[in-house]
Amino acid sequence: MFERARTVGHSPLVPRAHALLLEKVHRSADEELARHDVAVRRIDKGLSESELIAALAELPGDGPVVVGIRSKTRVTRAVIEATPRLLGIGAFCIGTDQIDLACARGSGVGVFNAPFSSTRSVAELVMAELIMLARQLQARSRAAHEGRWAKTAVGSREVRGKVLGIIGYGHIGSQLSVLAEAFGMQVMFHDIVAKLPLGNARQSADLDEVLAHADFVSLHVPDTGFTREMIGARELAKMKPEAFLINASRGKVVDLGALRAVLDARKLAGAAVDVYPQEPAGENDPFVCELQGLDNVILTPHIGGSTEEAQAAIGLEVAGALWRFLESGRTTGCVNLPQLDMPPPPGLRGKPGCRLLNVHRNVPGVLSKINRVIAESNVNIAGQALGTLDDVGLLFVDLPLALTDAAATQLSTAVAALDTSVRTRLVAL
Ligand code: NAI
Repeated sequence: MFERARTVGHSPLVPRAHALLLEKVHRSADEELARHDVAVRRIDKGLSESELIAALAELPGDGPVVVGIRSKTRVTRAVIEATPRLLGIGAFCIGTDQIDLACARGSGVGVFNAPFSSTRSVAELVMAELIMLARQLQARSRAAHEGRWAKTAVGSREVRGKVLGIIGYGHIGSQLSVLAEAFGMQVMFHDIVAKLPLGNARQSADLDEVLAHADFVSLHVPDTGFTREMIGARELAKMKPEAFLINASRGKVVDLGALRAVLDARKLAGAAVDVYPQEPAGENDPFVCELQGLDNVILTPHIGGSTEEAQAAIGLEVAGALWRFLESGRTTGCVNLPQLDMPPPPGLRGKPGCRLLNVHRNVPGVLSKINRVIAESNVNIAGQALGTLDDVGLLFVDLPLALTDAAATQLSTAVAALDTSVRTRLVAL
């Protein structure tokens, strides 16, 4: 049982916040926000730019608003500029390409996503695929459905004792490492960063070494300029003919034409692919892929993170980040603002103190300007923290208990009036 946290908007200084949740984000998000006194409105579909502007304008009150989306709704510059109350954007998924991140940062709007919530689901899918490929389950199952009794041990293998090569030992790669060792596999991995190997796993500085030794190669890298088609004809040629390739990371990491060629030439035993360079926009659009029709290839429609558990966890993760940002300005996990997570000082916790939050242009002298305003107001600050990211800075100033609401508001107005200030607000602690 979690301790009931402070709610957003207790103080008369801070009006109640509203959230607009779109695209059927999991109900766990509504519950998490409602628990912290954020009023939730839900529209269970994606919205166009003009529909979104109108829906945000219709939210009641004059307090801050946050919007929760998945991949269909785009939060553009026009949406951000038309909604001065907009304070936060929750991407209830991993990608944030659908959001104008630079405009959001320049407007002091925090963007949060869910990088961890589907980690376990992806790792479990890969474990299933390892065994399916090793036991030729696709072909065996199809034969049984078609009335054929294809009982044979030829070509079927245990995964125990086999070498799993993991490329990208981040959240998913390292979870997979633990699961695979529990199945008796030997894990070696390659990552561009030195990583603590879990269990008996071993890091290799050399991608080619992993490709050459592994019975299964599983890819868990992000989509970057360095990972685009990092597995092509050259890399596939390094793999053993009896090995399998699994890609549940990003579609552009593998050259699918080159993969088809080695499978046709029987220079690779099989593959499992969950992600593609071009994916259909919706379930009614056709899906076309070079690997269709091959018995030794498992094709899945980008379902690595598609479990009830992952969706519920995403709801909690993003809603939690949004209310923490509303409540005290904390930006841990924020993708476009400096990450700052200063808890209220112990003396102020649970008491009606307040925090001044200021997003400003990151230019020389900005901090001294803000501090001059505070000094001239004769306010003795209880705590202060600063974070910067590129052209933007984020400042927390915890104000003393003795300060009246009127004095806090006056101070906030004076800081907001500085030509370097982007967004300034007060929150109750
Ligand atoms: P992560 O950021 O925790 O780990 C990625 C790892 O790859 C890091 O350790 C990084 O240092 C390493 N890396 C980066 N460039 C590399 C390179 N050129 N060579 C070797 N290693 C490199 O990411 P996480 O959460 O583990 O996700 C991994 C991938 O899985 C991402 O592409 C993500 O989009 C994808 N994903 C797919 C899902 C699905 O539904 N199939 C669901 C969730 C994530």
